[in-house]
Amino acid sequence: MEKYVINGGKRLNGEVSIGGAKNAAVAIIPAVILADSPCRIENVPDISDVALIANILQGLGATIKNINKSSLYIDPTTIFTHIANYEQVKGMRASYYLLGALLGKYGKAEVAMPGGCNFGVRPVDLHIKAFEALGATHTLKNGVIKIKADKLVGGKIYLDVVSVGATMNAMLAAVKAEGYTEIENAAKEPHIVDLANFLNSMGANIKGAGTDTIKIRGVRSLKGTTYSIIPDQIEAGTYMVAAAATGGNVVVNNVIPRHLEVITAKLQEMGVSVEEYDEAVRVISDGKLKKCTIKTMPHPGFPTDMQPQFAAMLTIANGISVIHENVWENRFQYVSELARLGAKISVEGKVAFIEGVDHLEAAPVKATDLRAGAAMLIAGLCAKGTTEIENIGYVERGYENIVEKLRGLGADITKKRTMTTTQVVIA
Ligand code: UD1
Repeated sequence: MEKYVINGGKRLNGEVSIGGAKNAAVAIIPAVILADSPCRIENVPDISDVALIANILQGLGATIKNINKSSLYIDPTTIFTHIANYEQVKGMRASYYLLGALLGKYGKAEVAMPGGCNFGVRPVDLHIKAFEALGATHTLKNGVIKIKADKLVGGKIYLDVVSVGATMNAMLAAVKAEGYTEIENAAKEPHIVDLANFLNSMGANIKGAGTDTIKIRGVRSLKGTTYSIIPDQIEAGTYMVAAAATGGNVVVNNVIPRHLEVITAKLQEMGVSVEEYDEAVRVISDGKLKKCTIKTMPHPGFPTDMQPQFAAMLTIANGISVIHENVWENRFQYVSELARLGAKISVEGKVAFIEGVDHLEAAPVKATDLRAGAAMLIAGLCAKGTTEIENIGYVERGYENIVEKLRGLGADITKKRTMTTTQVVIA
């Protein structure tokens, strides 16, 4: 077991470089299954979720090699099975992309229902609905989804709720289906566009990614390609908020500023200066933050994956801020942890009210999920004293070298090994 130990109260200063987008990587890596020859994927983030999805693909028989720190060679031609069992997929939400990719390639997939971050019910009904619109049938037994189609034929897919996962899975299954597919009410996140660009670079014919309607003409085969994943919008946003909350001055490099507009606008509303460059943003804050209202929405609205980090910052903003969580049912589990640091937050259903306090005081806390863990880091960086954060495995699912990157900005943070009760007894 490991934990982060932070001596808070230091303003962040300097430059930080952002890695590839987690939510694009966890879809693009399984999408390689659809190719008939090897792919080279670049700007792959060095995070445990990527290691997990790569392991799962290896379990199916794919040959994977690290070309360098951020590039993977993936040969799907050695895959010998369409079955991913629970042992392989547990703890990996994104393993549901195996359903679309294996179905699209082999006309069949057997994937155990995955785990992953634990906020709210995370259904896959829309994913299944999309596969069925292309002619597939499914069974769900003993926690395993089996899906098959004698032949996938293009069709109209209407997504009742805007869903990133269902949109990506529909694209994966439709890309080689016979004829024309239209996905209506599609998600528009940058990683949806990235997956479409990747599939197109393999020879797919996808238009409209990034709009409500995605149009796909099925192709017979897809070939290997070299592709570089977009920068991670949420990792970038997290450093922007950390800079703003600590009264810092930080240049966030290797970003697409357009993908950060909604985060930038909210920071500016709070009195933080954000300068945009071609591939960087600079955040300058004097630490005097104004309250704000946040309503999470699918892209281009405010991303739910930035909600906990903003909440951590708003605990020390002037006035009462309000957060409406409109995407997930249960994404305020971190509130009691922030309260341990002296934050004043109350939650009524999908709305959190945050009354800014003068400062936070250090305490032991834990990450309750990935972005909640990022929120604890931001709170710990601001708090007076030494904050210890447990359950950091969540954080490392989605943030590469976070200790090194924060130390590079002047934070006093270390990662320490803790002994479990059993280890203490044995010792
Ligand atoms: C992805 C991200 C996650 C992010 C979320 C929203 C990955 C692995 N995860 O999750 O980090 O928080 O997008 O940006 O990329 N829904 C249904 N039926 C379905 C699928 C979803 O009702 O079949 C609902 C969900 O309950 C939720 C909403 O749709 O209320 C959005 O979910 P979705 O966009 O699918 O999130 P994920 O793709 O799981």
